[in-house]
Amino acid sequence: MENKQVAISHFGGTEVLEMQTSEIPEPKDGEVLVKVAYAGVNPIDVKTRAGIGWAAEQNKDNLPWVPGYDISGQVVKAGSNAELFNIGANVAGFIGFPVQGGGYSQYLCVPETELSLVPDSVTLEAAAVLPLAGQTAAQALNKAQVQEGDRVLILAGAGGVGHIAVQIAVAAKAEVYTSCSEDNLDYLATLGAHAINYNFAPVSQRLEQVDVLIDLVGGDAALDALKCLSDDARVITVPTITAELICEKAKLLGFNASGILVDPNKEQLDTMLYMVSVGLLKTEIYHIYPLTEADKAHQQIETGHTRGKVLLDMKC
Ligand SMILES: NC(=O)c1ccc[n+]([C@@H]2O[C@H](COP(=O)([O-])OP(=O)(O)OC[C@H]3O[C@@H](n4cnc5c(N)ncnc54)[C@H](OP(=O)(O)O)[C@@H]3O)[C@@H](O)[C@H]2O)c1
Repeated sequence: MENKQVAISHFGGTEVLEMQTSEIPEPKDGEVLVKVAYAGVNPIDVKTRAGIGWAAEQNKDNLPWVPGYDISGQVVKAGSNAELFNIGANVAGFIGFPVQGGGYSQYLCVPETELSLVPDSVTLEAAAVLPLAGQTAAQALNKAQVQEGDRVLILAGAGGVGHIAVQIAVAAKAEVYTSCSEDNLDYLATLGAHAINYNFAPVSQRLEQVDVLIDLVGGDAALDALKCLSDDARVITVPTITAELICEKAKLLGFNASGILVDPNKEQLDTMLYMVSVGLLKTEIYHIYPLTEADKAHQQIETGHTRGKVLLDMKC
């Protein structure tokens, strides 16, 4: 048996994603070996592959590098002192973040304390949607201290982070507004948000008195959205590349603004898996590509118009 992985040996376009094989690793003390079923694909994977951002800087002397931070799969072997999971248990995790990665692997050793048990009623596909994107959504809303009755604007509600953020904000009884293209208006309405087509007119011309802005787009869209905030509004800007600019401008306007770097949290993933299991949270999957088509998965993320998440099927 071999361990197929998708790796990059230099930064560049999607053509630099190459298959490599390695030995199946042995779990060390406190680790389990996971047979990965699905790996989530996130914008940070795409940016790092292209040589952009902090994770690329950290990994530039550490190539080849296997991307991927979201995994779901099955425990197939336990190292010494690893006792939390039975062999055969379905698990999911937000692993190796932000430097190590490794999720685009068929087999991976992970400290058992970083993994969540996937309930029987949750598919491994749905579980792979949640780690990075779901926790970013939850942590951004927590940081903004969203409360019942708040008017919350989420830019890019249809994306991987956005579709989870919309649902958590609705569940918190906030009044949720979100921006999207025409194609996603109905989808976001079904999640309980007031959807605004950003191609029709700038969001600032359609909305006012917003208490909380969750910015998942950055740049000009975020600068425009600052115009519809109420006094003392809270701003969380998630794309790291423009965070400094948006925070500076927001603070000049008197708002409480900050960026965020998602922090893997097993208990939070447990909670989200529970919410999916009881129907309180719905995961949206745009497409599942075989691991041999990781390039197509990255191209899809690069369109900037993925609804929900893109996954890699690591089983084939
Ligand atoms: N700081 C952190 O720790 C952290 C963590 C996770 C993600 N991020 C960053 O957060 C951003 C969002 O991540 P993601 O995974 O949600 O990305 P994603 O899934 O690729 O987002 C795609 C979505 O963006 C929407 N969109 C594109 N342009 C838009 C615009 N001008 N206005 C409104 N919606 C727009 C698209 O909807 P339409 O097709 O309807 O346009 C699409 O559904 C990325 O920049 C990512 O790198 C940062």
